[in-house]
Amino acid sequence: MRLDVVTIFPEYLDPLNVSLVGKARARGQLNVHVHDLREWTYDRHNTVDDTPYGGGPGMVMKTEPWGDALDSALADGYETGSHGPVLVVPTPSGRPFTQELAVELSERPWLVFAPARYEGIDRRVIDEYATRMPVYEVSIGDYVLAGGEAAVLVVTEAVARLLPGVLGNAESHRDDSFAPGAMANLLEGPVYTKPPQWRGREIPDVLVSGHHGKIARWRRDEALRRTAANRPDLIERCDASAFDKKDREMLSILGWQPDPGGRFWRRPEAVEE
Ligand code: ADE
Repeated sequence: MRLDVVTIFPEYLDPLNVSLVGKARARGQLNVHVHDLREWTYDRHNTVDDTPYGGGPGMVMKTEPWGDALDSALADGYETGSHGPVLVVPTPSGRPFTQELAVELSERPWLVFAPARYEGIDRRVIDEYATRMPVYEVSIGDYVLAGGEAAVLVVTEAVARLLPGVLGNAESHRDDSFAPGAMANLLEGPVYTKPPQWRGREIPDVLVSGHHGKIARWRRDEALRRTAANRPDLIERCDASAFDKKDREMLSILGWQPDPGGRFWRRPEAVEE
């Protein structure tokens, strides 16, 4: 997979040399190009922003540097269709970045990122490139960052670990919280490793019982418990058919019950335990 990032802070992308993404680069599974937007400015001050039309606070990133930088990044290898690039624009007003979207992006050969600073990029830039390639405007969460570079790191890491051969164990993503197609999208429960005792704390006996069925059930119950506590919306969203008899018993213990429409809801008095 090829990645291009156009930014006014190229050094912000240095973490792309580290850990899983760094190793994928070293192995040639990821081909990363970081471009300094200011190389496509032609004035003494290397200006990339200007005041917004219509007034208001903040500054808007200018069309010309972005257009020239993106043209340059795209010049080598551009084609249309499934072999061509997609443009990823991190913005708090984008669609939520989810595991499903990470999977979709991981199937593309070439991602071009346009992280903005200030109040964003002049809209005409997005509209222009949308005529040449799919554009994904994505938000990594309901908060406002100072710029899109951290979001580029987030999206890149989520996508890179899905590429064939990047994670040691291909089964590792099957159990991911939010893995698409999972029976019910539950959060993963707690995990433990050696030693068996630490500061007087033990590990759950079931995990050393050698009983695979019981271990799987315990993990499922813990996943239900954690999801009910931290992301009740995920349980509310599930069709009742996603839950087996034991799931229902656990949900009932946690204060949830099915409604006639087949969804689960939690008795209000059960919310604060
Ligand atoms: N830029 C600023 N805030 C952002 C967010 N929440 N997601 C993606 N890009 C952003």
